[in-house]
Amino acid sequence: MAEPGMGESGGDNAVATGPRTPALGVLVSGRGSNLRAILDAIARGDLRARAGIVISSRAGVPALEIAAARGIPTRVIAPRDYPSRAAEGAAVVAALSEAGVDLVVLAGYARIFDPCVVRAFPYRILNIHPSLLPAFAGGMAPKPQADALAAGVKLSGCTVHFVTDEVDAGPIIAQVAVPVLDDDTVERLAERILAAEHTLLPEAIRRVLEGHPRVTGRRVLFDHR
Ligand code: GAR
Repeated sequence: MAEPGMGESGGDNAVATGPRTPALGVLVSGRGSNLRAILDAIARGDLRARAGIVISSRAGVPALEIAAARGIPTRVIAPRDYPSRAAEGAAVVAALSEAGVDLVVLAGYARIFDPCVVRAFPYRILNIHPSLLPAFAGGMAPKPQADALAAGVKLSGCTVHFVTDEVDAGPIIAQVAVPVLDDDTVERLAERILAAEHTLLPEAIRRVLEGHPRVTGRRVLFDHR
C-alpha cells in the first residue's frame, strides 16, 4: 500500500499562519480550458490551493495567456529544446521544485513523462483523460473521443488518475460518465465530455488535497469526501 504524500507540512511558520495553501503545478499544451476551470474553482473558493506555476510544452498557446492574465508564473519547456526525454523531464522537475509545487496536474498536457518526473512526484501527479479509462487509453483529444464513437459505446466520459510510468493506467481517482448520443459527432461528444471535465478536475484535485488518499493495489480510497 502506498501513502501519497501531499506535502502537508506547513513550513517553519505553519503554527503562526495556519496550514499553508497547497501549490499546484499545472502542465498544459494548448487551449487551457481545464486550467481555466481550476483557476475559477480557486477564485470561487471551491478549491483551497494556489497555482504556483504553469508549464507548457508549446510556446504561444492560449493556456499560457490564461495563466499570464492571472499573474501566474509560466514556463515553456518544449521537447525540441532538450537533447533527450530525460533532460526535458529533469527541466520539468527543476521548474516544479523551484516553484514549491505540492501537486502536479496534467491538464491537456501532450507529453509522456520520463520516469524521473514520476519518481520525483510519486502519487502527486494527476492527469485528466477524455474517456472512461481503462477504455480508450492513449492518445490526445480528440482521439479518445473519436475512438469511443467509432467503437459504438453508449457511455463515455472522463477520468482523473494518478500518473505512473504506464500511460493512462495509473490508479483512478474519479470518473464521470457522459452518454453517447445517436446524432453525436466527435466534436459534439468532445464538447460534452469537456464540460464534465471542468467540474471533475477541480473536484478531484480537492479530494486528493483534502481526502487523504490511499492507493491500495489499483484502487484509490479516501478517508472522507
Ligand atoms: C481535454 O479534453 C483533456 O481531457 C485532453 O486534452 C483536452 C485539453 O483541453 N487530454 C488528453 O487527451 C490527455 N491524453 P484543454 O486544453 O482545453 O484543457
